[in-house]
Amino acid sequence: MVVAISSVGLVAKPRLHGSPVPERSRGGSDRSHGIYACDVSEPDTGAAREGELQAFRRAAHALVDGVANQLAALPSRPVWQPLPDALREQLVDLPLPERAATLDDLVATALRDVLPHAMGNGHPAFFGWVNPPPSPAAVVASLAAAAMNPSVVAGDHADVHLERAVVRWLAELVGFPHAPGAGLLTSGASAATIVCFAGARGRALAEVGRDVRRDGLTGAPQLVAYVPAEAHSCVRRALELLGLGSGAMHEVPLDGGRLDAAALRASIAADRASGAVPALLVGSAGTVNAGVIDPLDALADVATAEGLWFHVDGAYGAFGVLDPAIAARFRGMERADSLTLDPHKWLGVPVDAGCALVRRSDDLRDAFSLIPPYLRQDASAPVGTFAEYGFEQTRPFRALKTWATIAARGRAGIAAQVARANGLARELATLVEREPELELASAPETSIVAFRARPAGCPPSRLDDVNRALPEAVQARGRVFVTGTVFGGRETLRACILHPDTGSDHLATLVAEVVTTARTLAATG
Ligand SMILES: Cc1ncc(COP(=O)(O)O)c(C=O)c1O
Repeated sequence: MVVAISSVGLVAKPRLHGSPVPERSRGGSDRSHGIYACDVSEPDTGAAREGELQAFRRAAHALVDGVANQLAALPSRPVWQPLPDALREQLVDLPLPERAATLDDLVATALRDVLPHAMGNGHPAFFGWVNPPPSPAAVVASLAAAAMNPSVVAGDHADVHLERAVVRWLAELVGFPHAPGAGLLTSGASAATIVCFAGARGRALAEVGRDVRRDGLTGAPQLVAYVPAEAHSCVRRALELLGLGSGAMHEVPLDGGRLDAAALRASIAADRASGAVPALLVGSAGTVNAGVIDPLDALADVATAEGLWFHVDGAYGAFGVLDPAIAARFRGMERADSLTLDPHKWLGVPVDAGCALVRRSDDLRDAFSLIPPYLRQDASAPVGTFAEYGFEQTRPFRALKTWATIAARGRAGIAAQVARANGLARELATLVEREPELELASAPETSIVAFRARPAGCPPSRLDDVNRALPEAVQARGRVFVTGTVFGGRETLRACILHPDTGSDHLATLVAEVVTTARTLAATG
């Protein structure tokens, strides 16, 4: 542990020894004369090391017990509550501590002041954004990963090999073809999207004789990306960052889930005629707003016919392919040039764990490989180093928690959990449809339900205001947690079901809470 929060402040490198400097003057060196101004020159004796490890064991056991107690208590507590004002101020204003705290103190502070004040996604009545509870196997694995603390780039250590296996597992889980090297773990899908689009940009410009890494975009033709309106904002951000500009995003003509391929091809032809270079076509394997799966096969057909890079955003939804009831809807995902996944979403790997998969590993290596003399390890190996396939040099050990999460459930267990979540979403949709003061915004295809409140007597002109205010008002009551969006041009609630312990009772509470809160908002507004 390098930095932690204590009741007295941020603590830089807690001293595991806990012994004052004079006691550590051993082996004939008399530091009482002030020869050494700091205690860096003395090797640890076995006894000091043993004491350090004992302190570590004691604190770590206390932490594990505290975390387990916290997990046990979670379902009976409010899903989320604002922090007490005093604690919020205390955390924000923590002074930098001058002196070391003990590990025991740090654990006590974390258990008292931090763990109970969480975002709420550990609770089975949490339906917000796309945030699952952490898989317990991965929580345990995270300790081991931190204890190893490798930089997962190259070399003959277990973490490097495990990441190769885990990336292959992820590809296998969603049925994406995989060759060694053709993917890596990232901080999340936003980062993975940048990685994939860098590959797409390099390839598109190379095809017209440009070397974007050497020349940048100066003088290059405008690249065009075809993006559905419901694509996640990370797509736009990646295009902006990579210098294509959001103006280079042309909307994919989708209507009621069907692709107007002729219109898309006409728009591509017009762009070509104007001197632009159509480069990239994006589809979602589960949109963030409503969990809708785009017509991936039809998109792949256009991409193939037009020679575009086909990217599928599977951050939230790609694991939905494991549900036999909807697997066919994902047809075409396996034809993508790149696919982003987020193990830290449906799988429940603790943040952060995203994944970029590509069909041709060289597209990424061409975009990123840069090997200075001080980083030559494994550079000549056929697959090379992870740093040659993305923008991170020092890389955390994300693979251990991802491995643990998948291994603890197995493919069958994950598939059952995914199918169960989708089933619950259909059940929630039925409850919404039965409730006269709610309306469904979109029939769920996966585990996200988009719906709206329409409290009795509320004038239509006020409905948007009520629905906009609803999520925060519901959250403040503490019984369920739901978030909002704009869908189809209207304020909408979205309930995302990812928690393995969510059940019918939580769905009923969600419906009751939204109806009651909407009535209050309508009456008081
Ligand atoms: C469909 C979709 N794509 C991309 C992202 C971005 O993922 P991340 O937050 O891991 O960067 C999200 C996040 O919710 C998402 O739902």
